Amino acid sequence: MDNYLEHYHRTEGNFHFYLLIIDILKDLTKDVPNLRVLDYGAGAIPYTITPISVLQKDQHTVAYDPQLAEDIFKALPGINSIQWVKEPPLGQAFDLAVCHFSLHHMTKPPMEALGELKDYHLSLVTIADYDFTDSTFEEFRKVFIADQELKELRTVFGGDWEACFAYHSRFGLNAYQQALETNGFNLIRIERGKGIAKNKILLIGKVPFQDRSNP
Ligand SMILES: C[S@@+](CC[C@H](N)C(=O)[O-])C[C@H]1O[C@@H](n2cnc3c(N)ncnc32)[C@H](O)[C@@H]1O
Repeated sequence: MDNYLEHYHRTEGNFHFYLLIIDILKDLTKDVPNLRVLDYGAGAIPYTITPISVLQKDQHTVAYDPQLAEDIFKALPGINSIQWVKEPPLGQAFDLAVCHFSLHHMTKPPMEALGELKDYHLSLVTIADYDFTDSTFEEFRKVFIADQELKELRTVFGGDWEACFAYHSRFGLNAYQQALETNGFNLIRIERGKGIAKNKILLIGKVPFQDRSNP
């Protein structure tokens, strides 16, 4: 990496995209009392708080990741509770499931993963992921440069750019949209990042009507 400030400026479109996602999620959930959120593929390292866990006051979040280092429950005074788990929280109901850059990491295809999410009696699901389906290898190399992305290139793909590109261009907007709609979610919003984040997409699915009285 050249220097941090230059790197930040080159990748600032990614930060704008993440902030846009948080703003949209806050707005979408503002009228849900005691919001329950499932962070599906939350990451392997448990954090005390994540932006996803503080969308609303009195929110409870279950952060599920099969590669999680340790199960942990965190509820700090004045901060919402967040429970990090390694096993899927079967039998629980959530208002919102967040699948952020996790679906393309699963061995099952997005269609199947979203089918399993229906068991959580959701009202909303958000997918943030990549769409490199129309991109060239050269374009991929220019934009896949966030710290986390370069780390993944090194640790998962041993620095093999071509393998990394092939992996990240397997699914895109069409696949995620189809996975949502086939599983009964109405697609209510699509966003694309700008600049360096132009291959990052956000899709929001909503269940037409959710009867929470009989989960
Ligand atoms: C790139 S990380 C994304 C982490 C976080 N959501 C974020 O936006 O930074 C992808 C995560 O998906 C998780 N994952 C892989 N297979 C999964 C599955 N079947 N169910 C849930 N999560 C899975 C991985 O363990 C990994 O931590």
